[in-house]
Amino acid sequence: MKPTTSSAETHDRVAALIAEHRGQKGALLPLLHAVQDALGHVPDDVVPAMASALNLSRAEVHGVLTYYHFFRREPAGRTVVQVCRAEACQACGAEDLLKRAEQVLGCARHDTRADGAVTLEPVYCLGLCASSPAIQIGDRLHARVTPERLDSLLAGVKEVA
Ligand code: FES
Repeated sequence: MKPTTSSAETHDRVAALIAEHRGQKGALLPLLHAVQDALGHVPDDVVPAMASALNLSRAEVHGVLTYYHFFRREPAGRTVVQVCRAEACQACGAEDLLKRAEQVLGCARHDTRADGAVTLEPVYCLGLCASSPAIQIGDRLHARVTPERLDSLLAGVKEVA
């Protein structure tokens, strides 16, 4: 993973979010969510400030940040494609969909394509378990996704990207 160097403005925004959350019990997760909402990811170089403010070690913050796949440590691509890998979707061909998405998009799972157009993420439940398998493209959920439908949905992504 490439080290990131955040701007002074980014550090200021994170400092404001730290000030907002530091008095809260169990502040780390809400703070990480707030930072990701604000910046689109949680840069590695803001971890020390968060750790210090919450009286945690950097390793503790880093451990939580890397444990939850939801948190991104690098900016996402312009379009984020998420393929559900939780149980119901897994039973309905999610792994095959994910492999197909990797091939069609030219992007490995957990990665962003070199041109920054797309990020491909396995996720664990999109709340559409009764209509598996499910994927999300940007803000839009898609249920009962067949391989053919996936191709057509991803063709739209490639055009937008
Ligand atoms: S298991 Fe895939 S949406 Fe819930």
